[in-house]
Amino acid sequence: MPAPKTSGPTILVTGGAGFIGSHTVVELVAAGHPVLILDNFSNAKPEVLDRLARITGQAIPCITGDVRDRALLERVFADHTIGAVIHFAGLKAVGESTEVPLSYYQNNVAGSLQLLEVMQAAGCRNLVFSSSATVYGDPHAVPIREDFPLGTTNAYGRTKIMVEDICRDLAASERGWHIALLRYFNPVGAHPSGLIGEEPQGVPNNLMPYLLQVAAGQRECLSVFGSDYPTPDGTGVRDYIHVMDLARGHTAALAALPGLDGAVPVNLGTGQGYSVLDMVKALSAVVGRPLPYTLTARRPGDIACCYSDPSRAEAMLGWKARFGLETMCRDGWAWQRSNSGLS
Ligand code: WQD
Repeated sequence: MPAPKTSGPTILVTGGAGFIGSHTVVELVAAGHPVLILDNFSNAKPEVLDRLARITGQAIPCITGDVRDRALLERVFADHTIGAVIHFAGLKAVGESTEVPLSYYQNNVAGSLQLLEVMQAAGCRNLVFSSSATVYGDPHAVPIREDFPLGTTNAYGRTKIMVEDICRDLAASERGWHIALLRYFNPVGAHPSGLIGEEPQGVPNNLMPYLLQVAAGQRECLSVFGSDYPTPDGTGVRDYIHVMDLARGHTAALAALPGLDGAVPVNLGTGQGYSVLDMVKALSAVVGRPLPYTLTARRPGDIACCYSDPSRAEAMLGWKARFGLETMCRDGWAWQRSNSGLS
């Protein structure tokens, strides 16, 4: 398929070889944007670039490097006309962040500071930042709106709040910054081609990658963390969103940036909560057999219920999630099978 006529300056995508970054690159190319990836491949495989070329029909330029490398960033902005940055690069495991907090502050906060300083010096003031619903902590109510109080119990969540605060202070200090702070709920699924998807290292912390490995026979049984929560079936409720919907949320945010003055938080979720047992049932139906699980104790730090009010995204970005649970499960399963050689 011939690449669409590219338009406008380059979009720098830090962490663009990662799970959400790679899916966003697909949508950026489809929207006709020239893309440049910067990734240190600490949590992504180089083969993702080949997969992106197969999906998009064109080679995606990529620089291997770290956002903490100031000299590298300065070269990137000197050698390219960067119109905007979508900043995914960072560490994102809640549990790990409590074990190695300094690494999280280095990568997520110091890395973002380097990027913002180089952007400022280069006169590039358009940023889409990868934030997280973790910034809300245990919400006092649901659905969650962007004006809810922020607070979190882990270093990962604190790094996200810190970078959001840095963006807010920067935008307040200097006119002309257009920053979308996108707060993701629970990304799942994969590109329908089955060529890219989530590939956690080691034992998956998150529900869907673990459940997909159970379905693929790589794990014995799912442990359901807690069945005594104040929720309809006692298990944790979350706002799962298809990663392709999430990717489209980024291209919508990019297009809306000129109208976003300052640093504006926006929820990217479906507004629909599903329990752990809902997810087990949905994936079992797609796989065609019941998936084994056992009810176990709550996981420390987990909250009972978290789902978004996505109305600001619709109003400000003209974006709304399209895909339901069956599609999330079907695309996730297609990726799992192709990635583990089952198909
Ligand atoms: C979902 C539900 C668990 C695993 C985390 C981060 C968040 C974001 C998304 C980065 C909960 C239950 C899980 C398992 C289970 N990441 N569960 N058995 O904790 O909502 O959010 O990932 O931005 O920042 O906090 O996602 O998928 O880990 O858990 O029962 O083996 O599944 O208790 O109710 P979570 P999760």
